[in-house]
Amino acid sequence: MSDDAIVVEGVHKRYGTKRVLDGLDLTVARSGVHAVLGPNGAGKTTAVRILSTLLRYDEGRVEVAGHDVRQRPGDVRRRIGLLGQNAAVDEQLGGRQNLEMFGRLYHLGARRAGARADELLDRFGLADTGRKAVAEYSGGMRRRLDLAASLITDPEVLFLDEPTTGLDPRGRAEVWAAVRALVGGGTTVLLTTQYLEEADRLADRISLIDGGRVAAEGTADELKARVGGDRIDIVVRDGAQLERAAALLTGGTVTDPDRRLIGAPAGDRMATLSRTVRVLEEAGIEAEDIVVRRPTLDEVFLSLTGSRQDDVEVAV
Ligand SMILES: Nc1ncnc2c1ncn2[C@@H]1O[C@H](COP(=O)(O)OP(=O)(O)OP(=O)(O)O)[C@@H](O)[C@H]1O
Ligand SMILES: [Mg+2]
Repeated sequence: MSDDAIVVEGVHKRYGTKRVLDGLDLTVARSGVHAVLGPNGAGKTTAVRILSTLLRYDEGRVEVAGHDVRQRPGDVRRRIGLLGQNAAVDEQLGGRQNLEMFGRLYHLGARRAGARADELLDRFGLADTGRKAVAEYSGGMRRRLDLAASLITDPEVLFLDEPTTGLDPRGRAEVWAAVRALVGGGTTVLLTTQYLEEADRLADRISLIDGGRVAAEGTADELKARVGGDRIDIVVRDGAQLERAAALLTGGTVTDPDRRLIGAPAGDRMATLSRTVRVLEEAGIEAEDIVVRRPTLDEVFLSLTGSRQDDVEVAV
C-alpha cells in the first residue's frame, strides 16, 4: 500500500484494436493539485473513469487512496469524489435539493444530508441561490454546484474531468477559486484539462498526456525549462520587414504575422535582448515592443510531443 494518493503503473486500455491508454504511468502525492493535460482524445476521461472504478482496464495496476481499484473498488469509492465532464445535477430541482438528493444517495440521513447541503452551498457561494432551479443558474454556478455535489462525502481524492470547459472567463475564475479553497483543506485533486493556462495556474504538478501515455511530467516551471529556456518576442512596426527581421536573429521565426510578431530563443536573456536591439537598429528596423519571457505551456507541448495543439484553447 502506497502513501501516495494515486499510483498508476503501466495501464493499458483498448477498445477493439484501438489503444486508448498505452502504458500510462502516474504518481500523485497526497494533497495538492495534479493536472493531466492533453488534447481531445488523449485518453483523459478514460483514465479518470478507470481511476474512479467506473471502467475496467486491460493491463497494469491502479491504486487510489491506498486501495487497489480492481481488488477493493468499494474502499476506493468511499474515499473519492468525481466531477464528470458532463453535469450530474438535475436541472429541474433547486441547488439545495440536488445536494440533499446526493446526500441521500450516499446514505446520509435526512438531517445530515440537509446540513451538508447547506454547508456546501455556503462554501461555494451558492447559499443565496440554493432554492432556485438549476435551470436558472449561470454556467459557473452550475459547475460550482457540481463541485459541491462531488464533495458530499468529503473525499480524500477528488477527480475533476475538465471542470471549466465551456465556461466563460468569469465562470472559469469562479471554479478556479473553488478548487484552490478545496486544496487548502487537504484534499488531493486530480484534474484533467485542455487549457494550458488552467494547469499552469492551478496545478502543483502537470502530466502531459499524448496518445494514451505520459509525454512529460513536472511542475509548470520544470516543463517550461525543458523546452530550452526563455524566449524573446519582438513586434515589428512595419509588417513588410517581418521576414528580414526574423532572419537577423539566431533561431528567429515569424510567430504571428497578423500581430507583426517574431520570436527567438533567448537563452542568455539580457545579452539576447541587447544584441537584438542593436541588430535591429543597425538594419533600420523599428521595433514597437520587445519582451523576454518564459515559454508558454503551449510551446512546451509543441516541443515535447512534436504536435501542434490546434484544439487547445488558451484561457484568457
Ligand atoms: N466506449 C468507447 N468505445 C470506443 N472508443 C472509445 C470509447 N470511449 C472513448 N473512446 C476513444 O478513446 C479515445 C480517448 O477518449 P477520451 O474520452 O478518454 O479522451 P479525452 O482525453 O477525455 O478527450 P476530450 O478532451 O475530448 O474529453 C478517443 O479516441 C475516443 O474516441
Ligand atoms: Mg474527456
